[in-house]
Amino acid sequence: MFRTNTCGELRLADAGKCVTLAGWVQRVRKMGGMTFVDLRDRYGITQLVFNEEVNGGLCERANKLGREDVVQIKGSVNERESKNKNLPTGEIEIIVSELTVLNASKTPPFTIEDNTDGGDDLRMKYRYLDLRRSCVRKNLELRHRMTMEVRRYLDGQGFLEIETPMLIGSTPEGARDFVVPSRMNPGQFYALPQSPQTLKQLLMVAGMDRYFQIVKCFRDEDLRADRQPEFTQIDCEMSFVEQEDVISLFEGMAKHLFRTIRGIELTEPFPRMPWSEAMRLYGSDKPDTRFGMEFVELMDVLKGTGEFSVFNGADYIGGICAPGCASYTRKQLDQLTDFVKRSQIGAKGLVYARVQEDGSVKSSVDKFYTQDVLQRLKETMKAAPGDLVLVMSGEDVMKTRKQLCELRLEMGNRLGLRDKNKFSLLWVVDFPMFEWSEEEGRLMAMHHPFTHPKDEDIPLLDTNPAAVRADAYDMVCNGVEVGGGSIRIHDPELQDKMFKILGFTEERAQEQFGFLMNAFKYGAPPHGGLAYGLDRWVSLFAGLDSIRDCIAFPKNNSGRDVMLDAPSRIDQKQLDELNLSLREE
Ligand code: AMO
Repeated sequence: MFRTNTCGELRLADAGKCVTLAGWVQRVRKMGGMTFVDLRDRYGITQLVFNEEVNGGLCERANKLGREDVVQIKGSVNERESKNKNLPTGEIEIIVSELTVLNASKTPPFTIEDNTDGGDDLRMKYRYLDLRRSCVRKNLELRHRMTMEVRRYLDGQGFLEIETPMLIGSTPEGARDFVVPSRMNPGQFYALPQSPQTLKQLLMVAGMDRYFQIVKCFRDEDLRADRQPEFTQIDCEMSFVEQEDVISLFEGMAKHLFRTIRGIELTEPFPRMPWSEAMRLYGSDKPDTRFGMEFVELMDVLKGTGEFSVFNGADYIGGICAPGCASYTRKQLDQLTDFVKRSQIGAKGLVYARVQEDGSVKSSVDKFYTQDVLQRLKETMKAAPGDLVLVMSGEDVMKTRKQLCELRLEMGNRLGLRDKNKFSLLWVVDFPMFEWSEEEGRLMAMHHPFTHPKDEDIPLLDTNPAAVRADAYDMVCNGVEVGGGSIRIHDPELQDKMFKILGFTEERAQEQFGFLMNAFKYGAPPHGGLAYGLDRWVSLFAGLDSIRDCIAFPKNNSGRDVMLDAPSRIDQKQLDELNLSLREE
């Protein structure tokens, strides 16, 4: 037998047993005539002991072991004299009688410990070593357990796990496609799926009724902490359902995950918030509702009531009230102003008003407003003595709200209100069907072109499409969009109309979506679904700052895999076979 036990398994009750273990050398310590080796595998660490007096030759070999050597040992389990309460195996040690070096290791480029000395790039280059660190490995273990629970839940609900192809045509989900040239069809390209959206709809036409897939999706978009170019969706679709059915089933799945993985029992239905409300109160379609600090609109209070030309020319003025922050120093307030002026946020400035202990208001715009107006500001903001009111304004309502949203989140961070162990979930519903794209100069589908408009808004498709709301819903947790879906159009005529509004010619609609439109002519059931972002769920549960840390082999911020050195050039022979030639740079 290669090993009788793992390195995380042996306890005091095993004392006296002869065992064989195998693993990696974490650490070698020499103390007097004794040598101690920490042996590590996925399951834990066990201390090995070599005694110079008992077996000098063996001890000498142990002294020569290097970090990360792979060894096999035989020995007997012994009660430790000085016990280590922090280690599950801390009450025992192995008195080693045989040592075999299975594979010597080069000195690793960084220490394989939770607090490693390796920088980001180095760890990514040697990701297989990084993954040996227990803090990283734990994230993958969590991911595995969550995936298993997802399968268990969906299987229990009658879903079929069905694989869909990775080499498909382009799916319009708003991002750019990754494309793959076809050797057998020169000059033609596959696209990797941005999601299996159209395929899962075809599975509904095929009568599969309830489908799911834990599936890789590919999107060539700018990367952020919660975005990877390839990521994993828990993708689902159901037939003969309405929005309530989908919401209730997937809320059930979220509750199942919280119960089984985090031991948190969520009994109440998740709150629902219309998109317009989320934008008005938080300036975001994924509000972090772990804390309040909602926006208060201040147009009535501050526009035209003083000489401040910035506010007088604004189309939106909004404020947030930061409790207890009136004591902020000039330096802290300057930092906040610099924060909103950063290029990623792009605001022109920030106005503040401190509510003093006597109730009077001291602001950065005192010379433009009377104390009466400032008192009205205080009342509208429901600000108390000791509070700080922060006000932003702008000509573009949406843009200004987004800027104020960044400030709110920053204040949440500064005040420690974004606790990773607190979870605040909600559904954002009633999304607009369309959004205006400056880049394209036309209306675009906010979710995707297959989303069903709200029945009561269908007449507006002809008169005021921009006002049409969709049967679309996102699940949001702690300011992260963890999933989204919609009820789909199953009527070919309505789908045709949608394509027209989106500016597709009949030929282009046929060329891109003919397969779906034709399928709908053969008895399409009403259907709808949702996709959860698995990476985002895992990183929320693990309290990670980036989804990268729960992905075995992630890409860096430039979309590179530095370990594989991909993407890379391909040789001329491959290019020739694919009938491709590269333009000179
Ligand atoms: P959507 O585009 O909203 O919907 O994606 C669903 C969920 O996938 C996650 N997600 C991502 N995670 C990591 N990196 C990314 N680049 C990334 N992009 C998206 C998010 C998101 O909520 N076909 C529809 C679903 C449907 O309508 O059923 C879709 O893909 O958590």
